[in-house]
Amino acid sequence: MKIKRIFAAGMFLAISVPWLWGCGKQQSAEPIKVHVGVACYNQSDTFISELLACFREEVNELGAAATIRDGAGSQRVQNDQVKELIDAGCNVLCVNLVDRADPSEIIDLARENDIPIIFFNREPVAEDLKQWDKLYYVGADAKQSGVMQGELAADRIKSNSQADRNKDGKIQYVVLEGEPGHQDAIIRTENAVNTLRSNGIEMEKLSYGIANWNRAQAQNRMQQIIGKYQNQIELVLANNDDMALGAIDAYEKLNFTENALPIFFGIDGTDDGLKAIVDSKLAGTVYNDKEGQAEAMARLAVTIVQEGTEGQAGEEKYIYLPYEKVTSENVRNFMAPKKSESNTGS
Ligand code: BGC
Ligand code: CA
Repeated sequence: MKIKRIFAAGMFLAISVPWLWGCGKQQSAEPIKVHVGVACYNQSDTFISELLACFREEVNELGAAATIRDGAGSQRVQNDQVKELIDAGCNVLCVNLVDRADPSEIIDLARENDIPIIFFNREPVAEDLKQWDKLYYVGADAKQSGVMQGELAADRIKSNSQADRNKDGKIQYVVLEGEPGHQDAIIRTENAVNTLRSNGIEMEKLSYGIANWNRAQAQNRMQQIIGKYQNQIELVLANNDDMALGAIDAYEKLNFTENALPIFFGIDGTDDGLKAIVDSKLAGTVYNDKEGQAEAMARLAVTIVQEGTEGQAGEEKYIYLPYEKVTSENVRNFMAPKKSESNTGS
């Protein structure tokens, strides 16, 4: 797939500002009130709940309204919620699919009612996004996050001779994976491991666990893996921060001493993930730009309601926000309320 990095806040701003703050002096018509219906796959997901908090702020700033519904892991429930949101008068939808391979019912509902959809975080397959011209996606490039995680781990291993604790010239590692079928699970794992290898690190996979992005499940899986491999594990690569934190919880629960601990890496830069870097528990993470994604979703929603989907806003269906590497050296930059102006260049 050809990734187009088209995020250009300036563009959205240029389109939106006259409508929003132009005081209506030259404009005769009142701008259409934007009411966004948001359907998320599971609000107890840490990253999603933090992303939605950012989204609420962005929507408020733009003078729009949002109604958020939680599919709680059921596609059928989510389909009904989308119908309710449409019936309640939402004029644009933001949908975080439960099953990213099953958007057809939602697309049909939206098309019948001529309500555009911005999918986010859980990427529909390309063919589905082609089903109708009023479908968009806001997210990030899974491959980039995997590569960055691999680079962070390679740097750390090369600069720290203690990383290969048993001095056998190889790094014994475990992977904690997100939901099977999610675009960010397999792709992150593959790219992280391949990047380590291409950086000259010899890797030995001891085990893996599927923990569905979830901290408690990761702790559970990790305790089982530790039960088998004891202090042989030198590196834990987790597909997200919550699972890296769950792995750290497992070691804490089992009272491992610091010199028997592996190095842990996550992805996201959630509040707890960043704190774990400050506390030197997590070696690094890859920032999943929730502020940038929230801003892109909100601006696109306002633009397509008020400007229509033709013209500039209609040209690009994908918006991918770049990831960034986070270590103890730069973690503070990510902890202050972060706006995405650093991502608007080029
Ligand atoms: C995030 C995970 C999150 C998942 C939900 C991923 O992009 O990294 O933390 O659980 O999206 O779909
Ligand atoms: Ca080793």
